[in-house]
Order: sequence, then structure tokens, then C-alpha cells
Amino acid sequence: MSDSLSRRRFAGGAAISLFSALTARKSFSFQARTRSVAVHADVPVATIRPELDGSFAEHLGTCTYGGMWVGKNSPIPNINGYRKQAVEFLRELGIPVLRWPGGCFADDYHWRDGIGPVEKRPKRVNLWWGSYTEDNSFGTHEFIGLCKLIGAEPYIAGNVGSGTPQELRDWVEYCNYPSGSTLSDERAANGSPEPFRVRHWGVGNENWGCGGNMSPEVYADNYARFATYLRPFGGTSLVLVACGPSSNDLDWTRRFFDSLRGHRRPPNAYSMHFYSGGKSYATKFTVETMREQLASFAAMEKAIIQQRALMDSYDPDRKIGLMIDEWGVWDRMAPEEEKRYGRLWQQITMRSAIAAGLGLNVFRRQADKLYMCNIAQTVNVLHAVVLTDGGNGMRAIRTPAWYAFDLLKPHRGKTSLRVDHESAEPVGLSVSASREANQLVVTLINARHDEGMRVNCAVAGAQASGGTARILHHPDFNACNTFDNPDVIVPKAHPVEVGRSSVAVDLPPLSIVTAVLALA
Ligand code: AHR
Repeated sequence: MSDSLSRRRFAGGAAISLFSALTARKSFSFQARTRSVAVHADVPVATIRPELDGSFAEHLGTCTYGGMWVGKNSPIPNINGYRKQAVEFLRELGIPVLRWPGGCFADDYHWRDGIGPVEKRPKRVNLWWGSYTEDNSFGTHEFIGLCKLIGAEPYIAGNVGSGTPQELRDWVEYCNYPSGSTLSDERAANGSPEPFRVRHWGVGNENWGCGGNMSPEVYADNYARFATYLRPFGGTSLVLVACGPSSNDLDWTRRFFDSLRGHRRPPNAYSMHFYSGGKSYATKFTVETMREQLASFAAMEKAIIQQRALMDSYDPDRKIGLMIDEWGVWDRMAPEEEKRYGRLWQQITMRSAIAAGLGLNVFRRQADKLYMCNIAQTVNVLHAVVLTDGGNGMRAIRTPAWYAFDLLKPHRGKTSLRVDHESAEPVGLSVSASREANQLVVTLINARHDEGMRVNCAVAGAQASGGTARILHHPDFNACNTFDNPDVIVPKAHPVEVGRSSVAVDLPPLSIVTAVLALA
């Protein structure tokens, strides 16, 4: 369909009015095919927990050291050691929950190394991510301080692989017991009389791999042993997170829950890790490698459905929440960039923004099955929302993934709605919708690079009376925001045609549009 044809009046509703931040329609030079979508405003799925937009930070490359923590004496502008610009970007985005300190690093981390006077903290070798030494200047207190600064709830991943149940129960007591025990008094002496009240605790990380190379049966035994001693010290009830599978490994899940049957302290949550590998360097994707990577989000949605269905057979009341506490794109690493900026530093492009949007749309559609999801990772590593020019560089930028999260943010806390559309392509149109009182939010993503779309969206069960939309778009899937040019990919206002029971939007290739509509 030609662009001019795509501008015909939308036939879904009688009275069509144009509500837009822009009154003039922007014309895109693309061929547009019409797609029909139905949003069922009267068919709720579940509340979209803000925690589905969580984040993950590891002691890896320049994510924690250099990216978020530069130290109080750094020439880089900082707030008590935290990189000011990173803090501002993360606070602005509103990260609901932050997982730390790993990742693989977590099962080789001993929390006592990171408390007390900084000059007395031991230097340790980070064996997973380059065998460099860390001075432990970023420890538990610094992590909690960061969470407070950016408004995130802390989620600590405990050490099962090389630690002991006592070490982990002591960390919980140190963080959560109000006062009067030796450990809580030590916390107070270290500057925090107030308990940290950390609720979320990971009982290991990837224990099928870097967390100890365990079988599901051995891990289930370890989980049971550790969990016995993780108590609600001082009344802070804990959400214990068990290590789930790598991608959609149903065998791990089945054997873990079989082994755990009858255990008195089953986990509160169970976390799958799901990475979307890329065969190209971040800014050198081809149509084929991009399509292959973006298609993995359909596989992730299938994994959520299948893992939850299997968990339901053990846990029909869904007392155990399914999480994905690591997800995101993991592209081919460019050695010169890793050398310059840190391990697993990858540029974030328009393709990566589409990937972030596809993931967040999946989480919104599957909100009834998910408890928490954390993108890997927050700053400078893998699918980062903030990039700095290395650990010592002064500059920081919001990535296109930051903007994708921002575009999907209006759904947080709202009720996910059923959406139907005809397209069965793994890489095509992606839709999510949510509602709260008199507001309807619809996110439409065109993941195709070669085809525009005119989306006619029928709204059932409610009447729309107006609205606005924003778009994130760039025709080049390898385009990115750079330190010299940080605003190449930023959202703009976008026209949306709103009828009483219909909405129409033009989606250029590679675009994310969120429309926020008023309901009559
Ligand atoms: O996020 C990078 C690594 O990926 C984490 O350390 C590990 O948990 C996963 O394999």
C-alpha cells in the first residue's frame, strides 16, 4: 500500500477525530501494509508489575566499577562516589528493582569483603570477568546507597556455588536485623543503624553453570539446605529466588521441582535466564542476523508459557513466581571496544531498542505469568540502558534501549489486556495494551526493516475519546546514539487517529509507538 493510500480515513469507527501532539501528519517514505489489531479493554490479563522492568548490575567490565561507581575522589562528577550522570539517567527512568552483585560473580563473592573501612577491604581477583583485581570499594552499603539514590528496590544474589549457608544467612541478618545482634551492630557501626530490609534474595545464580556446575538434583539439595537458614530477621519477610533454567530448559525445571517435592521452604520465585544471542558486532548487523536475533523473542514468549505451565503442575496456585532475572541481547563482542570500554561493552542500536521493546511487550502480554524481569545489564554491559566511555571516561549517554523502556513505562502498574492480531510472523508486528481507570495504553512495534504498517486497532469494551502517541524510530537498524551525537535516536511525538472504538497509527519500519488514550 502506498503512503498516500495508508492515509485514508480509518474505517473502524464512525466519528474519526485526529488527536495528536502534532497536528500535521509526518510522512514516512515507506510502503505500508494494513494490519488489524483488536484490543479487548474488557478482558483483563493481570497487573503489570513494575518489577517486570527491573535491571541487573554485576561486577563485570565497567558496569559497577567505573559505570555507576567512580569513587569519591574521582574527577568524574559524582554524588558520594556514584557517577552523577548515570544516577540521574537511572533515576529518571525509574528502575523499580536492581539485582546485584552478579551473575557469575555472585557465586565467588564474599560479602564481608565489601564492608567496613574502605582502606581495609581486601583486593580480590574477579575470576569470571578478566582476572583483574577489585578493591571492594563497592560493597553492600554502597549498593543500598545506589538503590536509594535511584529509587530501586534492592535484590541481592547470594553465593551458593562457593559459599556456605552460614555466610548467606549472616548477610541476611547483617542487612535486615534491626539492632542488638553483633552483625546488626556491625552494620550500625559501618554507618547504617537502620536495617536495609532487603526482601529479594537469590539462592545462587546459574548453578547449572558458573554457580557450581550442579545437576538439578544437587542444586535442589543445596537450595533446600541454604533456604532452611534464610529467615525473616527482624520481620522482613524474604522472597527467595531459586535458580531456574538456561533458556527454555524444561528438563532442569522438571528435575528441580521433582527433587524439591515436599520441601518445607519452597522458593517464592524461580528464575530463568534468557539471552538473545547475536551473530554480528552490535553496529554491523545484517538483515539475516537481525531477524534471527529478533525472532528469539517469540521463543522467549513460548518459554514463559511453557515454563509456567510446567511450574503450574507442581504449583497450581502459582505461589512461586516465574522470573527472568537476566535477559537481553548478547551480540558478538568487538575486541577493541571491550579493550577500550570494558568487558561485554556493546553499542546499543535501533535494533537493540526494538529488541528491548519486544521483550517488554512480551512481559506485558504474559503479565499473569511473571513476577520480575531484569535486563542485563544496567550500564556498559550487554543490553545497557546507559553507556559511558569506559570506566574513566567523562561522558555518559542514554541508549536507545533507555528510550524503549521509557516508551513502555506508561504500562507499569496497569492491567494488561488481551490483544489479538492476525500476524503470525516471528518478526513483524508486536502489540501490548493495558488499562487503568480512564486510561488505555497501547504499544505497537514494527520489527520489520523493510515494510511500514498501517495499524487499525479496534478497541472493544471501552470508548476512546482522544490521546497522544510517541515514536522511537530510525530507518537504519545499526544506527546508535554516540558520545559525540547522543540524540540520534530519541522519541518524538507521533500522530494517532482516535475514533470512539478504534485507533489508527502508521508505523514506519523499525519503530516503537506508544499511544496513551483517554477513555470516555
Ligand atoms: O550477564 C552476564 C553473565 O551472563 C552473568 O554473569 C551470568 O549469570 C550469565 O551467564
